[in-house]
Amino acid sequence: MTILLSHHKFTILVLLSFFTALSHQATIPPNPRLEKAYIALQAWKHSITSDPRGFTSNWYGPHVCNYTGVFCAPSLDDPKCTTVAGIDLNHANISGFLPEDLGLLTDLALFHINTNMFCGTVPKSFEKLGLLYELDISNNRFSGSFPSVVLSLPSLRFLDIRFNQFKGDVPSKLYDLKLDAIFINNNQFETNIPKNLGNSPVSVIVYANNNIKGCLPSSIKKMSQTLNELILQNVGLSGCLTPEIGSLKNLTVFDVSFNSLVGMLPESIGEMKSLEQLNVAHNKFSGEIPASICSLPNLENFTYSYNYFSSEPKICTKLPDKDDIQNCIPERPAQRKVAECKAFYYRPVNCGGCGAPPPPPPSPPPPAEHWWPKHGHQPYTPPVKY
Ligand SMILES: *[C@@H]1O[C@H](CO)[C@@H](O)[C@H](O)[C@H]1NC(C)=O
Ligand SMILES: *[C@@H]1O[C@H](CO)[C@@H](O)[C@H](O)[C@H]1NC(C)=O
Ligand SMILES: *[C@@H]1O[C@H](CO)[C@@H](O)[C@H](O)[C@H]1NC(C)=O
Ligand SMILES: *[C@@H]1O[C@H](CO)[C@@H](O)[C@H](O)[C@H]1NC(C)=O
Repeated sequence: MTILLSHHKFTILVLLSFFTALSHQATIPPNPRLEKAYIALQAWKHSITSDPRGFTSNWYGPHVCNYTGVFCAPSLDDPKCTTVAGIDLNHANISGFLPEDLGLLTDLALFHINTNMFCGTVPKSFEKLGLLYELDISNNRFSGSFPSVVLSLPSLRFLDIRFNQFKGDVPSKLYDLKLDAIFINNNQFETNIPKNLGNSPVSVIVYANNNIKGCLPSSIKKMSQTLNELILQNVGLSGCLTPEIGSLKNLTVFDVSFNSLVGMLPESIGEMKSLEQLNVAHNKFSGEIPASICSLPNLENFTYSYNYFSSEPKICTKLPDKDDIQNCIPERPAQRKVAECKAFYYRPVNCGGCGAPPPPPPSPPPPAEHWWPKHGHQPYTPPVKY
């Protein structure tokens, strides 16, 4: 799965090259804020137990702007005062923890320490980092409950805590913050998708590989102008997909693979005009795939293998990149066994309170070749041959 955040990469690059230019100015006279930064960075250095690539080996002396991974810039409130505005120790493979003293870095806008072996949690003192804009502590060994201190950072826009060992609840207040991206995938969170999810103005939200139960709330329709990527792979979703999903007109990537979703794909997915990547594989979806989905103008990759779909419109088979194996679709290769499909279709669909379709009106029996009911299931009549 590739998640592209090109605008972020751009911001970071521009900011970092700016800081770098400043950092290598010969001598920056120390000021009280750099003196505080010195205390913070020395405390941090002392908490480090292993730094195999020597990132912090030049972290001595008062000239903190010369330390590897430390980036200085003029302060926002006083352009003549140089401050530590960024930390970037990505891919340093450092072992250690984050000491409370880091709260002294009150001018910090970027804190990037991805791909290290830091443990413990985010210190409470981070609440003093009123300018912190990007927090990336992904791919470390942080643990304990959700680092709630991030909820009190007024400038935070980008939160990346993926690939750690955080567990428990994800506070619903997270979705009321003015964030642009939330990456919490690959932790051990056990939580429900809250009703206020739709309050979040994020463009990207990735939950994958946690235990995030529940239904997609109807409030997601409030994200229709802003949400670009929604990744809910392997999080324990069950029930039916809410038809309100169709209001996400700016969504380009939608991945709900490896869950236990049931029922038909909502016809409204065919209204998600920006959709490029759609992955619903490894669920228990059934019935006919709406032709409107396969006609989406930007759809590049539609993966719906390992479900119980009973038919697909011809237009679906013509998509440049699609995967339909292990379903119940007559005439298609590598489908499930007839007996398995029959047993599956014998049971009614249980939306489990999520996105339940309205009860079907009583209707005359469908013509023979359309043995598929719109809603609910009936005994499976196997096709003549697969
Ligand atoms: C900072 O580093 C540069 C080059 O790496 C060096 O020329 C300069 O003297 C250093 N400044 C201080 C104050 O250590
Ligand atoms: C990181 O360090 C650990 C030991 O401290 C080592 O086993 C591992 O290979 C290192 N990883 C990289 C990418 O350097
Ligand atoms: C959402 O999509 C519309 C039309 O596809 C586009 O005009 C608009 O700029 C998009 N908004 C965002 C925030 O990407
Ligand atoms: C299409 O999406 C599936 C599932 O995300 C992925 O495994 C596959 O590599 C993608 N195909 C291409 C060509 O990107």
